[in-house]
Amino acid sequence: MNIIKTDNRQQLYEQAATLIAAQIIAKPDSVIGFATGSTPEGIYQNLVERYKNNFLDFSAITSFNLDEYYGLAGSHPQSYRYYMQEKLFGQVNINAEKIHIPDGSRKDAGAACQDYEKQMAQAGGIDFQLLGIGRNGHIGFNEPAEFFPGDTHLVDLTEDTLQANQRFFASREEMPTQALSMGIKSIMKARKIVLVAFGEDKREAIEGMVNGPITPQLPASVLQLHPDVTIIYCPV
Ligand code: PGA
Repeated sequence: MNIIKTDNRQQLYEQAATLIAAQIIAKPDSVIGFATGSTPEGIYQNLVERYKNNFLDFSAITSFNLDEYYGLAGSHPQSYRYYMQEKLFGQVNINAEKIHIPDGSRKDAGAACQDYEKQMAQAGGIDFQLLGIGRNGHIGFNEPAEFFPGDTHLVDLTEDTLQANQRFFASREEMPTQALSMGIKSIMKARKIVLVAFGEDKREAIEGMVNGPITPQLPASVLQLHPDVTIIYCPV
């Protein structure tokens, strides 16, 4: 694992955006796995600036997002499709037909997950996966569990995650309690992984992921087994 510590969040955004830009410049038709949450927002802002300054061309990339709430339409302001459209896709020249996000509005969640895995395989697999990490060590919505989930699947969100994300919803009742998420196998198949995190409340998860035992109780710890992982952590 390659670990980069930054002094401030701007540096984190800049460094992560540079890695994504380098990937797209080296391989313009890269398949990129994107993440949502508060951490990547500044990274996407940085990428949009690079695009506006003519330094980056998204037209040939294919994208796959890590996860989506189950039971929310893509038009819902708290859906991850909406987030991606607002923060990145709507502001750059990505081809809308090459955007993939698990379909949380589909009743048959199992079929939606299977289709998602098929689409990733058909695209040739993910070249570069951006990840955040939860305070409980989750990646995507792969929560602490007795085993590592494999493929894209329907997840019951844990109390910790519900609490962490509740701030985005008007009320707890409005918040979905389930999500569709790439599994650990889907994530581990990515050729390159960059995990970003900031803040004191993520320190324990980061330390466990890097130095602790590999255990599904801290899902991110599985990344110790991946040959190309970069962690960018800003403690403040
Ligand atoms: P955050 O979410 O960036 O909003 O902290 C990260 C995650 O839970 O994966």
